[in-house]
Amino acid sequence: MTETIETLNAQLGLPVQLSFGPGPSGLPLALITNAQATATVALQGAQLLAFQPHGEQPVLWVSSHANYLPGKAIRGGVPICWPWFGPHPSDPTLPQHGFARTSIWTPILSTARDDGATELQLALRDSAATRALWPHAFAILLTISVGSVLQLSLDIHNTGDEPFVSSGAFHSYFAVGDATALRVEGLDGHHYFDQLDGQTRQQHGPVLISGETDRVYRDAPGPLTIVDPLLGRHIRIDSAGSDSAVVWNPWIEKAQRMADFGDDEYRAMLCVETANARDDARTLAPGNSHLLEARISTTPGA
Ligand code: BG6
Repeated sequence: MTETIETLNAQLGLPVQLSFGPGPSGLPLALITNAQATATVALQGAQLLAFQPHGEQPVLWVSSHANYLPGKAIRGGVPICWPWFGPHPSDPTLPQHGFARTSIWTPILSTARDDGATELQLALRDSAATRALWPHAFAILLTISVGSVLQLSLDIHNTGDEPFVSSGAFHSYFAVGDATALRVEGLDGHHYFDQLDGQTRQQHGPVLISGETDRVYRDAPGPLTIVDPLLGRHIRIDSAGSDSAVVWNPWIEKAQRMADFGDDEYRAMLCVETANARDDARTLAPGNSHLLEARISTTPGA
């Protein structure tokens, strides 16, 4: 692992802005710092674990009980759910939310941009391990751009000779002052599939959190805004290539059931996910690609 980190630093490290180093349990991390923000990315899952514009509170939430173990999902940040969202559509023995979040990705490109942002691109391709779970050839490329704004771009390619169905999400865990005292704007009037009871309902007004919440909103391309009066902050999520959005908070009992989630932490987080979920799954013909993008920006505001 030390050798891998040395090689990565030699090949992709950027003076001051980007270095690679060991994280918790030795999992390799990319550490980004520039004049605008700092960020941390785990190579396992290409998972952002932190993003913080200078002078601001952290934008992403990670559980203090998170596991940092090879092949295990890390609770927080921005896991990449792919090639399926939620349980596998036909085989419940396959891993929830696919395998991208637990696979080791390969950093392939780093750029110090003229506008001061730092870009890191990571790739995941099919292998014997992925084909054992999902029999398709693919290449997915995630470009993370860290500046005063965070940009995520997931380029999904079908490199095989059969079509495949691609669903997934940027499963973003946002850090909030108090989940019970915020609102999510941009979903008024939209229908959602309530994953708690399988019913479809219509949203009236902003989304408020007052119990376990697990919803897939359809025809919801955004933008969405988390209005957080306690932190005096708005988090705005603009997306492209996504017509579905997931809002998730486990609330008390589910938090207690999850070993990697502190019992009281449900108040400090809210997942608002940029998704291709349920009927927003995309079919990719051989040679075709799909781009899923999110742009996360913050502004002060009550
Ligand atoms: C959300 C799903 O996106 O992820 C929820 O809608 C799920 O149903 C949650 O509980 C967390 O999933 P996991 O696999 O990370 O525990």
